[in-house]
Amino acid sequence: MKILALETSARAVSVAVTENGVALASAYQNNGLTHSRTLMPLVENVLRGIGLTARDIDLFAVSTGPGSFTGIRIGVAAAKGLAFGAERPAVGVSTLAALARNIAFADGLVVAAMDARRAQIYEATFRAQNGALARLTPDRAVSLEDLSRELAGATLPIRIVGDGAELCAEFLKACGVPCRIAPPHIVMQNAVSLALEAEAMPENAYLSAQDLRPLYLRPPQAVPLRERLNGISEKRKESAENVRTPCERPEKGALPMNGKGTLHVIDHPLVAHKMSILRDKNTSVKDFRELVSEIGVLITYEATRDLPLTTKTVETPLCTAEVPTIKGKKFAVVPILRAGLGLVDGVLRLVPSARVGHIGMYRDEATLEPHVYFCKMPKDIAERDIMIVDPMLATGGSASAAITEMKGRGCKNIKLMVLLAAPEGVERIQKDHPDVDIYCGALDKGLNEHGYILPGLGDAGDRIFGTK
Ligand code: PRP
Ligand code: URA
Repeated sequence: MKILALETSARAVSVAVTENGVALASAYQNNGLTHSRTLMPLVENVLRGIGLTARDIDLFAVSTGPGSFTGIRIGVAAAKGLAFGAERPAVGVSTLAALARNIAFADGLVVAAMDARRAQIYEATFRAQNGALARLTPDRAVSLEDLSRELAGATLPIRIVGDGAELCAEFLKACGVPCRIAPPHIVMQNAVSLALEAEAMPENAYLSAQDLRPLYLRPPQAVPLRERLNGISEKRKESAENVRTPCERPEKGALPMNGKGTLHVIDHPLVAHKMSILRDKNTSVKDFRELVSEIGVLITYEATRDLPLTTKTVETPLCTAEVPTIKGKKFAVVPILRAGLGLVDGVLRLVPSARVGHIGMYRDEATLEPHVYFCKMPKDIAERDIMIVDPMLATGGSASAAITEMKGRGCKNIKLMVLLAAPEGVERIQKDHPDVDIYCGALDKGLNEHGYILPGLGDAGDRIFGTK
């Protein structure tokens, strides 16, 4: 497959043609001229140099953000025109995912960071392993303080790419988080990495020229509550759909994150503190059980951010007011037995009307393969939004099998909530069920030879029920 990639998200502009992962030609210009003057001549030169025309291209890729608004609009407009003229699909690539690809060969954590000003960076964290990248966060606007808290204690080496790398590295080091900036020749955006990222994307991410659009990141206050209410005008609704915010995932289908379900690691001091007590082997069964439930409440709070709202009229002691109210969505919480039971109470405290389905699953201790031994669901389960809960996502086998079981019963909108996740489990869910978002209290280092999460908290079921 031949891909023509346009990278215009920052001061430099670059263009590349790749074929099946190999760069055929590329050009880069960084002389301060506006992209509207430099981009199309570069495209022409690159194609002419290898004896191709736009009609020989199979896919047009362009960075759709984050980055300079004007630069991205120029790149997207050019890609739309090229794709339309050549009657080929186009694909919008996250600038941060393309940046991470620059350094995918170095195993560890990759932080792609762009300076967003106003004391924030546009950022996404990935895990690089054997040249493959697993996304750990969505593209987001985040403060350096929040990022350093998230990365504190990470045991994998941290490498930073992007025009925010220096800013970010200085701050992290000052907070005692060791990290390194990628070498200068691969620290910035380039069209070859963009093309390689486009090649790794699933075909269902390809768009018609007409549907290709920039994706703007904004801090959460840029999406006023009003815009999430029913009464918003169609025009405003459309622009709201184009805004990605930290911890907030848009309506399904509005913005596929490179075709993958997103991992949301709940970044809150209370969650971090309570998780640390859970890990302590001296924590009593009573305290352990209470903490699991409390963390369940806190994760549910984040995982229900996208519940749709409507309005209703109330009489306050002073006047009549139109006020927001949850739009009566049908919801079910599905614990994976046994240990998942510990989280049900936390979810029900915030969503008391939720129904509860149970799925019994155990891991064969020798093969680590999950086995379903019980399944009892509410009758209308297929019409409900589902939150599968289990404290531990280790190899991901149990959660993946539970999601498959729920999909087999017709469920479409499924989320997974866990206390602790291992990167192996996250990868498994993202591979088997790319439509399912994962919410967790912490992402740990990995698994031991028995499939236990490290540093972990031990056997969650035994600690909740005091069976060992
Ligand atoms: C634990 C845990 C998960 C599973 C995670 O359950 O509660 O369900 O292991 O491991 P995986 O991601 O490798 O599948 P376990 O099988 O120990 O049963 P229990 O809940 O009865 O303790
Ligand atoms: N199940 C647990 O309860 N703990 C682990 O660490 C892994 C799977």
